[in-house]
Amino acid sequence: MDVDALVSEATARIEAARDVAALEEIRIEVLGRKAPLVQALRELASLPPDERRARGDELNRARRSLEGVVDERARELRRRELEERLRTDRVDVTLPGVRHPRGYSHLIEQTRRDILDVFVGFGYVVVDGPEIDLVHYNFDALNHAPTHPSRQVTDTFYIADDVVLRTHTSPVQIRTMEAGPPPVYMATAGRCYRRDTPDATHTAMFTQIEGLVVDRGITLAHLKGTLLGFARAIFGAEREVRLRPHFFPFTEPSVEVDVSCFNCARDGSPCRVCKGEGWVEILGAGMVDPNLYGYVDGYDPEEVSGFAFGLGVERVAGLRHDIPDIRLLWENDLRFTGQFG
Ligand code: PHE
Repeated sequence: MDVDALVSEATARIEAARDVAALEEIRIEVLGRKAPLVQALRELASLPPDERRARGDELNRARRSLEGVVDERARELRRRELEERLRTDRVDVTLPGVRHPRGYSHLIEQTRRDILDVFVGFGYVVVDGPEIDLVHYNFDALNHAPTHPSRQVTDTFYIADDVVLRTHTSPVQIRTMEAGPPPVYMATAGRCYRRDTPDATHTAMFTQIEGLVVDRGITLAHLKGTLLGFARAIFGAEREVRLRPHFFPFTEPSVEVDVSCFNCARDGSPCRVCKGEGWVEILGAGMVDPNLYGYVDGYDPEEVSGFAFGLGVERVAGLRHDIPDIRLLWENDLRFTGQFG
């Protein structure tokens, strides 16, 4: 074996290696276990002692020299690869970042908060009530006659003979009066359930907001003033309200409340919101029927009086945003809900 020729040929190959992987292949060929040089070193033992030493020196020098060339080339290649990466992998901090979609409240929730905020601003306390409630709270204590049609199983979801999915938030009136003496300035919001066939204005589950005020000397004028304040906060500062006689079992007198149309000139010309009426119905209300005080302790109808009102959150949302079908509010199609995000 011509060691000098081997070294110069291997050195040339090592120095020409283009990357770390190619260099490793060459290293295995010239310095690995099967490399001629390494095999020659292994065979030294079989040489006669007088040749062994000189040959051993020569082969070991050759091996160290090649190892040095490999190390040098490896350092060089690594340095070049690092430089290349530093040049190309530059982070451009001025590029726009990856935007993550932001969550938002559903329109029903936004509307619920907007309305409750108005009553919180009036000084009302916000309370909660159960969605599954006793017939006692949902009907009996709210002065519904035993034969009242809304008690029927065709109108109301019964869990048991005496337990229903509440059909309105009015049971919270009784629960609130039970919980403590007057005065009461209370608002509550939550889901209610009725066995309605879904259509553009009905869903079997909906959201109601209830208000109850009981104090000394409360009159229908206070109710009207309160609802006027509410209507102006939610539908615009120019609004007026109108009370029309109505009936609810638990208020006397009872009224339906209209707000002046916020969509048209109110001159009788066609309007999709008020149908040319100039008024839009928004809620039901009335003076607390004195009978109700008989179901709780500490409320003397000779001493206190009160008013209550109830309104549909989906209806308010639908009116404010011109939503043609309230079922859209429950379908959770992001193309719809995203318009309010
Ligand atoms: N609970 C009535 C309803 O669901 C609304 C209402 C509430 C009426 C309070 C008067 C007073 O229709």
